[in-house]
Amino acid sequence: MQDLQSIQDEALALFSTIEQPAALEDAKARYLGKSGILTERLRALGQLPVEQRKLLGAQINGTKQALEQALVQRREQLAQDQMTRELRAQALDVTLPGRGVLRGGLHPVTLTLQRIEALFRSVGFDVTDGPEIETDAYNFTALNIPDDHPARAMHDTFYLDPAHVLRTHTSPMQVRYLQAHALPVKVIVPGRVYRCDSDMTHTPMFHQVEGLWVDETVTFSALKGLLVDFMRCFFEQDSLKARFRSSFFPFTEPSAEMDIGCVICQGQGCRVCSHTGWLEVLGCGMVHPNVFTPLGIDSERHVGLAFGLGVERLAMLRYGVNDLRLFFDNDLNFLRQFATR
Ligand code: PHE
Repeated sequence: MQDLQSIQDEALALFSTIEQPAALEDAKARYLGKSGILTERLRALGQLPVEQRKLLGAQINGTKQALEQALVQRREQLAQDQMTRELRAQALDVTLPGRGVLRGGLHPVTLTLQRIEALFRSVGFDVTDGPEIETDAYNFTALNIPDDHPARAMHDTFYLDPAHVLRTHTSPMQVRYLQAHALPVKVIVPGRVYRCDSDMTHTPMFHQVEGLWVDETVTFSALKGLLVDFMRCFFEQDSLKARFRSSFFPFTEPSAEMDIGCVICQGQGCRVCSHTGWLEVLGCGMVHPNVFTPLGIDSERHVGLAFGLGVERLAMLRYGVNDLRLFFDNDLNFLRQFATR
């Protein structure tokens, strides 16, 4: 009895100090294996008288069971410890900040759009946007551009189907906005426009800002004053040169194009201004009665000024970029120069 109890105590103490599953199985073999201590005892029973054999056999089996039970528990404990170690090693604190994250910056075209919007808001213009997929009717017909007008040719326009185009300008929003709002209106509409054209000063997608101001007392001189003031504020140059050339747009009468002095070459002539010293920045004019009449607006009473300016052109001048296509190559070395730190 005494002997069995000490074997059991010794075995249980040993099991509880073992840390490796393989070592635990070795320890098991020492007691319960083929030539284990308890196995030998059972074998030796044969030499004892029947009565003693029964009694001692039951005691040895009791010890065996105790050891087996302890082994099961220890195995579970080791597996559990192993799992805990692994989980701890793989622990990931998702709330920690990342390492070496570079701060991004706004695209120069976005910065330019924000600047344009802020300046027009400061003189009372609302800002809205419109669809880039436009109907042929809004893009052309409603703007007094007849069926045979060259602007409709496939050469300039991306047609999606015979009735839908990628808008070639933001001017269709003049019509959409007037349909949705009571007079007077004073709004600018920034957005992407598309034309089938690509060279140093043209990209198939670019940005325009449309302007529309309709009221009873709007004048052509207000149009000139507004745009010259805008350009001088935009470039922070009180004496920036500007000129208006008479022009033609089917949806304005009279129409003009505005040029500003080329700030890349200071008017000396360079590739960007085609050696003229001037850069065309927008088209403008007074809204044509043929646009107003279908909208139920009486052009004897209401007058509208409208303009459409090229955003990339202004961004090039402000940042001294000499190739329009750089804005859309997404070369990080180029874009990083505009990130504010
Ligand atoms: N939509 C014209 C263009 O894209 C610009 C413009 C807008 C002209 C408004 C007059 C009035 O060239």
